[in-house]
Amino acid sequence: MNYTIDILRQENRVAQPYRQTVHFATDDAEMTVATLLKTLNATPDLTDTDGKAVSEIEWECSCLQKKCGACAMRINKKPQLACDTKLGEFKDGKISLEPLKKFPVIADLIVDRSVMFENLKNIGLWLEKEARHTKKGEDVAYEASRCLQCGCCLEVCPNFIPGEDFYSAASFVPSGRVLSELPKKDKADILNSYVDKIYKGCGKSLSCRDICPAQIDIEHLLVNNNAVAVWKRFLK
Ligand code: SF4
Ligand code: SF4
Ligand code: FES
Repeated sequence: MNYTIDILRQENRVAQPYRQTVHFATDDAEMTVATLLKTLNATPDLTDTDGKAVSEIEWECSCLQKKCGACAMRINKKPQLACDTKLGEFKDGKISLEPLKKFPVIADLIVDRSVMFENLKNIGLWLEKEARHTKKGEDVAYEASRCLQCGCCLEVCPNFIPGEDFYSAASFVPSGRVLSELPKKDKADILNSYVDKIYKGCGKSLSCRDICPAQIDIEHLLVNNNAVAVWKRFLK
């Protein structure tokens, strides 16, 4: 199969973006986009469709097993993980690779996702006191802990604008663990932050649920967190 790969490139944070197209042939439909990028970068004297030299394509990966979220990018306009997207999905052989667009570009397909981590710090998402485990809480905590912080949900969230007050699913998913495990007397601050930064801004359209590459049960976590933060807090 012959593939045509169109890549949105940008040399550094301030450079002008441009598109570059390369051809690649393989019969391996199981090859992932991550392996494709590694293979292109390992090809000596790689040229584009105009015959120009292709410099190393910048992208990020770590686990290559859907565990770290580093390789998230827009593949044919859809935010997804390069290590979990197989070439066989592209029946017409056309593949477009672009960086996630809600974050500043560092280079090519690498973006600066620090806003996600700053948001987690702002809502105080850590356990300072001893956690309390219950069977029900364990299920929520496990689901919440599966978040990769990949940012795919932020790409499709109509209400998330980086730097603004609504923190979206990348914050409310991991919040589930702290909200379920922290004793009630110790969680007033995080409950208030949750209401201000998440509950008030979320339109509950759930496009985050449909895009999440970890297939986290986002709807369940959202309902559970909202109940804990909004009405259960007033129960004895
Ligand atoms: S909730 Fe899903 S899509 Fe959003 S950051 Fe976590 S793993 Fe990624
Ligand atoms: S439910 Fe909708 S508004 Fe709320 S975080 Fe998900 S995509 Fe954004
Ligand atoms: S490299 Fe870790 S999720 Fe793709």
